Amino acid sequence: MLSNAFFLGKGGVGKTTVSASFALRLARSGKRVLIASLDPAHNLGDVLGASLADSPRKVEEGLEALEVDLGSWVDRYLADSRDELKSTYSYNLTLNLDSFFDIMKYSPGTEEYAVLWAIEHIRCDLAGDYDVVVFDTPPTALSLRFLAMPAISERWVSELTKLRERILERRQTIVRINPGSPAVAGCVDKDEDSVYGKLGSIKRRLAGLRSLFGRESFVAVVVNKDILSISEALRISGELARIDIPLSALCVNKSGLSGAPWVLDPRLAGTPSFELDFLPGGLRGRGDLASIDTTALVAAFQASDGKGTA
Ligand SMILES: Nc1ncnc2c1ncn2[C@@H]1O[C@H](COP(=O)(O)OP(=O)(O)OP(=O)(O)O)[C@@H](O)[C@H]1O
Ligand SMILES: [Mg+2]
Repeated sequence: MLSNAFFLGKGGVGKTTVSASFALRLARSGKRVLIASLDPAHNLGDVLGASLADSPRKVEEGLEALEVDLGSWVDRYLADSRDELKSTYSYNLTLNLDSFFDIMKYSPGTEEYAVLWAIEHIRCDLAGDYDVVVFDTPPTALSLRFLAMPAISERWVSELTKLRERILERRQTIVRINPGSPAVAGCVDKDEDSVYGKLGSIKRRLAGLRSLFGRESFVAVVVNKDILSISEALRISGELARIDIPLSALCVNKSGLSGAPWVLDPRLAGTPSFELDFLPGGLRGRGDLASIDTTALVAAFQASDGKGTA
């Protein structure tokens, strides 16, 4: 069994409902489960009928939940980067770091990194207490960006690492030719160079997240029997294939809501699919959540292996 599950899909298809119902069934089958909402517009607490915070709170026996406070993760990410910059490059103290970081707060990529570090925190500091962590995801665009971020950033860090190696080699040459050169004061050895060391540690963190998404997670897409949610599922599946994240399941939620004839797009037919009935009376609390029959979906998850498929 894999230890993480992500539910992606178009807005309103039932990502929060399905992930909560899935987590509840796993917990009631005896697993210790944490469900974490990564959606900045949280409603997991409403769906579970519990008041949630940025750290785990007990919902019922076996089930704990949290709503990631993305704003505070953005602030933490910026504060860490600021400290790092100050400790690594003393000459940057002459720049106005505060105005630089005010801009960075709203720059592309910052929110994605904040989500990544929040997931890393859950994986490294919290996951030890649970058998399974279930993630309720934000809108597709942000989800695909944070899922792709480790692979993209790793390539970028690799290039920076090569650049740093060249700088260190040049310094070594200068010191050899002219032992009196000011370059002697700088680091010439990879093992002692803090910038080189920092790049290595960023690379390891990103590789851990890439493995989490690509090899240690059950990634499902939730759809309804309509063209728009299927089109979005096709985009998601194409994008996941591009970044080497296997799609484990398709959850066809709200089945029975529409009587219109429907056939699954053949491009999605290779993915195991699970129909989840529409509850005509709506959902009011965990009793209703538990009545969505996720048995087959949970069984597929429990049978899943390290390749992300059942
Ligand atoms: N199987 C179901 N039967 C009846 N109602 C459902 C079912 N699944 C979801 N719903 C209802 O559909 C609405 C949207 O569900 P939900 O909030 O889980 O979707 P979402 O994909 O998480 O939305 P968002 O993109 O806003 O996060 C809610 O009112 C929910 O109660
Ligand atoms: Mg939701």
